[in-house]
Amino acid sequence: MGRVTFTAPITLPGLTLDLQWYRRSVFYEVMVRSFYDSNGDGSGDLAGLISRLDYLQWLGVDALWLPPFFASPLRDGGYDVADYTQILPEFGTLDEFRELVTKAHERNMRIVIDLPLNHTSDQHPWFQASRSDPDGPYGDFYVWSDTDEKWPDIRIIFPDYEDSNWAFDSVRRQFYFHRFFSHQPDLNFTNPRVHEAVIDVVRFWLDLGVDGFRLDAIPYLYESDEGNGEGEPETHEFIKKLRAIVDRDYPGRIMIAEANQWPREVAAFFGTDEEPECHMAFDFPVMPRIFYSLRSQSADELVAVLSETTDVPSWAAWGVFLRNHDELTLEMVSEEYRQAMYGWYAYDPRMRVNVGIRRRLATLLDNSRAELELAHALLFALPGSPFLYYGDEIGMGDNIWLPDRDSSRTPMQWTPDRNAGFSSADPGKLYLPVVQSLVYHYSQVNVESQLAQSRSLLHWIRNVIHVRKAHPVFGLGSIEVLDTDNPAVLAFVRSYAGAGTPVGDQPEDVLCVFSFAHNPVAVTIDAPGFAGAELFDLFGGHRFPSIDDDGRLHLTLGTQGFFWLKAVRR
Ligand code: GLC
Ligand code: CA
Repeated sequence: MGRVTFTAPITLPGLTLDLQWYRRSVFYEVMVRSFYDSNGDGSGDLAGLISRLDYLQWLGVDALWLPPFFASPLRDGGYDVADYTQILPEFGTLDEFRELVTKAHERNMRIVIDLPLNHTSDQHPWFQASRSDPDGPYGDFYVWSDTDEKWPDIRIIFPDYEDSNWAFDSVRRQFYFHRFFSHQPDLNFTNPRVHEAVIDVVRFWLDLGVDGFRLDAIPYLYESDEGNGEGEPETHEFIKKLRAIVDRDYPGRIMIAEANQWPREVAAFFGTDEEPECHMAFDFPVMPRIFYSLRSQSADELVAVLSETTDVPSWAAWGVFLRNHDELTLEMVSEEYRQAMYGWYAYDPRMRVNVGIRRRLATLLDNSRAELELAHALLFALPGSPFLYYGDEIGMGDNIWLPDRDSSRTPMQWTPDRNAGFSSADPGKLYLPVVQSLVYHYSQVNVESQLAQSRSLLHWIRNVIHVRKAHPVFGLGSIEVLDTDNPAVLAFVRSYAGAGTPVGDQPEDVLCVFSFAHNPVAVTIDAPGFAGAELFDLFGGHRFPSIDDDGRLHLTLGTQGFFWLKAVRR
C-alpha cells in the first residue's frame, strides 16, 4: 500500500492549509464536565464550553483537547466508554458538539478529542454481548481466558485499586483481561472485527469535523507471551494503519500518543517517514524532570534528557506539559528519584495515588509566583507544543480530600460568586465541590479577579503565550543544549532556519536560560557558535551584554530567574 506523508502546505485557491499546524499550537486540556455549567444541573456541558470559547481565544489557545465526553458510567472520568458515538446526556447532544466544532473553527481554534480504544466500560453493549454470548458476533471482542495466570510480566497500572490484570466474569465463567480498572475490559485487537469497529468510531468523529485524536493508553493494545504488553510490534502496525487512513482521507488531522514510557519507546510512536505513526507524543520523559530540577536546584537531569538525541521524523512534535487530569506520574524514573519527589511534593500520603502525585501545579509549587513563572517559561521554550491544563493559568488549587484524581478535576473558578461562577446549581449538587481551601479559595483565585489585576498570573501567562506565538522558532526550531559552569543553570539555543512553512520565513536563534537555584547566581555559558552575537530580551526588546569573542557569556540571574534572548549573529 502506497502511503503519502503530507509535510508541505496544501494550497487551494485563496487558502493555505498548514498541515503542520500542531507544531505551532498552544493546546489546552479541558474536561467538559469541569468548565462551565450552562443549565444549572451541577455539571459542566458542551453549551457551557461554547460560551467560554472567547475566553480561550483571548488567552491565545489554538487547540482544545477534550477528555472523553461519551456515554459512560463515569467510573473513570469518562475513560470508561459505554458508547463511542453517543454523548453523555448531561454533557449535551451531537448537535451541540457540531456547534462547538463550528464555533471553535470560526475562532481558528481546533478540537482534538480523546479516544480510549484499548478498553471499554463493562457497561458497553459489546461487553454485555461478549459475556452472555461467547459464540455470538461479540464473543471474541475482549480478551478472555480460563486462567488468570497468563502474562504475569505485565505490570499493574493502578496498584492502589487493582491487584491483578484479570477479573472473573460470573456470567461467562471466564477471566477477562484489563490493564486499568476491572470495570474496563480490554478490547481484543487480534480480532479484525475489533479493528473495523474501532475504525468506524474514528471515521465517525473525523466526519463530524474533529481535528485530531489523543490516542489514550495506546501502548497497551496488544499483549504477547514474549513482551510486556507495552508497544508490542502489532500495536505499532495498528497505529500505522490508522495513520494511513487519516493521511489518505483526512489530511491535516492529527494523532497524539499517550505513551507513558522510556524516551526511546515513546519516540517509537512517531514511526518513520516511510511508516508514520503519530504526529505527536506527550513528553513523559521531560515532565517529571522539570519538577525534579525545581527542588534539587540542579539542571543535570534536564540537561541529560534534552541532550539525548532521539531520531524522530521532521514532522513529529512533542506535546510538553506540566500537569494534566491524571496524577503526576513517577513510573518512568528511578526509585531513588521517585522517593525524592515524594518527599518534596507528596509529604502527606493523601497526595499520592498509584505511582504518582495527585496535585495541581500551583499547590505542587507552593503557590510560588517565581516558580510558576519559571516552570511556564521553560514549558513554552522547550521543543514541542505546550499543553496547559484548565485552571492552571489562574493557579487553581486542588482538594486532596476527594478520591483518586478527582482532587484536581474540580470546577473552574470564574468569579468570587456562588459555585465560583461555574454553575447556578445548589452547591450540594455540583459534580465535585469547588475549592475552598485557605490559600486557594475561589473568592481569591478566579478568572474575574485576575482579569482585573494587570500583574496577575493569568495576564502573565497570556503574555508569554503571545510572545511565544510571535516567534515560530519555539514550535519549529531545533535545540542545542549549552555547557554552563553552574549546575543550577540550564541553557539552550532554539534555532529555526526559517523555510518550508507558510509562516515566519525569518531565520531566528533564541538563547533560553533558566536558573533553578533558590538564590541569585552568576553563570558563564559556552555558546561557541555565537561568538560576538548581540542579545536582546524577547519580552522588552532591551539589549543585553553581547557574547564575547571566544563564545562566552557571563550572566547573573535572580532567584529562579530566566531569560529568553534573541541572538543576532555577527
Ligand atoms: C489514560 C487516561 C486516564 C485513564 C486511563 C484509563 O491513562 O489519561 O485518565 O484513567 O487512560 O483509560
Ligand atoms: Ca449542565
